[in-house]
Amino acid sequence: MTRSMIALALAFAMAACSDNSAGVSAAPSGKPVEGMGGATVADFKTDTNMLDLMAHVIDYNAWAVWTAQGWIIDAGGIHELFPTTDAGWDAAESAAFTLAETSNLLLLPGRPRDEERYWVDYAHQLYDASKKAQAMALARDKQGFFDAGGEIYQACVACHNRYVAGNMPGPRATLPEPPNRMPPPNQ
Ligand code: HEC
Repeated sequence: MTRSMIALALAFAMAACSDNSAGVSAAPSGKPVEGMGGATVADFKTDTNMLDLMAHVIDYNAWAVWTAQGWIIDAGGIHELFPTTDAGWDAAESAAFTLAETSNLLLLPGRPRDEERYWVDYAHQLYDASKKAQAMALARDKQGFFDAGGEIYQACVACHNRYVAGNMPGPRATLPEPPNRMPPPNQ
């Protein structure tokens, strides 16, 4: 069992302790925890590596948000990139929902890169920004949706600044190509 798995098991045990109103004692590591459907920590499937999780799950859905927002100003005037149909807004909202939920995948056993709380905080930052984007897409609030997209990007950068400083080791994953892919803001 890795140190982070132990930490997660401890977190579950502590959560069980703090909500002890029904007289349920803390579940020992490896035993089912209430609310987990009888699953144990060992039931999480985490064989997908971080590069593929980033490229194909997190980056993929982030681009589905980013390509659905913003303005392009050229000789022809101002062109909006925001959805123009309910189906388009639904897709943007779904991408933001998906991104929010994927932030939980970063917290699965073995995924955090150390035992600091920074990783957890960055995952939560991504969750909050994505939920804001979801709410703004639902409200058809273009400026709010755009601003939330910026906050999503800040969450990515905050974590990368700490954990992916400079050169990333190993081979790059194959990045998916969303339609109308734009260069990331920092390139
Ligand atoms: C909690 C931390 C964390 C957050 C938040 C995070 N990342 Fe990452 N990201 C990483 C780590 C760690 C790596 C490097 C993985 C490795 O080298 O094994 C990485 C690598 C990547 C890569 C490189 C993949 C490749 O092919 O080289 C992309 C693209 C990426 N992240 C996109 C994003 C986007 C987009 C967001 C925000 C929507 C985001 N990440 C948020 C931790 C994070």
